[in-house]
Amino acid sequence: MCALRIPLAKVAFGRLEEEAVTRVLRSGWVTQGPEVAAFEREFAEFCGARHAVAVSNCTVSLHLALLVSGVKPGQEVITVSHSFIATANAIRHCGALPVFVDIRLDDLNMDPALIEAAITPKTAAIMLVHQLGMPARSAEIAALAKRHGLPLVEDAACAIGSETLDGNQWQRIGAPFDKLSCFSLHPRKLLSTGDGGMITTDDADLAARLRLLRQHGMSVNDQQRHQSQQVVFEEYVEVGFNYRLTDIQAAIGRCQLARLPQMVVRRRELAELYRAKLSQIDGVIVPADRTDTRTNWQSYCVMLPEDIDQRQVMQAMLDDGIATRRGVMNAHREPAYSRGEEATGVRFPLPVSETAQDRGLILPMFDQMTEQDLETVSSSLANALRRQRAH
Ligand SMILES: Cc1ncc(COP(=O)(O)O)c(C=O)c1O
Repeated sequence: MCALRIPLAKVAFGRLEEEAVTRVLRSGWVTQGPEVAAFEREFAEFCGARHAVAVSNCTVSLHLALLVSGVKPGQEVITVSHSFIATANAIRHCGALPVFVDIRLDDLNMDPALIEAAITPKTAAIMLVHQLGMPARSAEIAALAKRHGLPLVEDAACAIGSETLDGNQWQRIGAPFDKLSCFSLHPRKLLSTGDGGMITTDDADLAARLRLLRQHGMSVNDQQRHQSQQVVFEEYVEVGFNYRLTDIQAAIGRCQLARLPQMVVRRRELAELYRAKLSQIDGVIVPADRTDTRTNWQSYCVMLPEDIDQRQVMQAMLDDGIATRRGVMNAHREPAYSRGEEATGVRFPLPVSETAQDRGLILPMFDQMTEQDLETVSSSLANALRRQRAH
């Protein structure tokens, strides 16, 4: 076995991030303050939203987005099982139950045709996911949500910089149409602050409530109190949380955001190269954009042929020094969602979600990847399949 040569992902931090962190440390203001406010303004502008609210990670952003959408204990939220566990967990954090619908294999996202059958009098919201950065059919789902008077939250953890076509105009995910969009700034994502999250919305009242809830329900934040020439007594108007992002993280995020358009361009070049190489391997299905999507290729997930053992392929590639991951997990297959009250959200068969987990293979994808790396990954995959079929 050789040492790992090609990791799955790699963060792209440089001198600018180092200088930004130093600047904040020297300023003496390290928690949520001016850098967070500037990062929020720049993030909102990037997405084409009126407001962006920074929080500690995407999981808590989903929790807050559901709370301000009115989701209450005992209610239900329609979502997908085929997602990182945090999607379902955020619904449980509100005391509500995730009701899982299946996905489509072409874009690994919620199948809009299955939503209506899942709506009950207890349904309080729909939460779609732009899985691996590939845009879900959000316009169709938003129209359906509107018809049923349901709020829509989008788990855009992986989708910063991905775009959808609105009429003849490309729009970035996070440009709201009656919905809240929640992003992750974890190191597996394009833009990272170590950990971090962001919520975008066009609704000033929702943004104000999100800001209140992320900081203990406090009517006056630290910075306002600090800057005031008058003595200010704060009030705690509702039970809130400590879901703040720090100024140190926000300063890193601002540098990353400035570089994001370049990162997206690079990912799209790499995805094209992967497509050209991998399409030649018999039976492997490569991911593709729909005509109305331009993904950021946060992750690159191929589908293995049915006759191939996923684990053996992953092991063979690991032996070649290449990190991979299996297809996106299914919450309903995990112990946390397969027993007790949680299991009552599993009402529909989820064959496509399960197939996508069992046949999916996530390949290395990061900005600094070279064409040689890509060649190494592609030939390792081709060899692994050839060897398996020879047995
Ligand atoms: C689809 C999805 N939702 C939510 C999350 C949670 O994000 P965070 O780690 O920022 O809480 C992730 C993280 O990978 C994710 O992929």
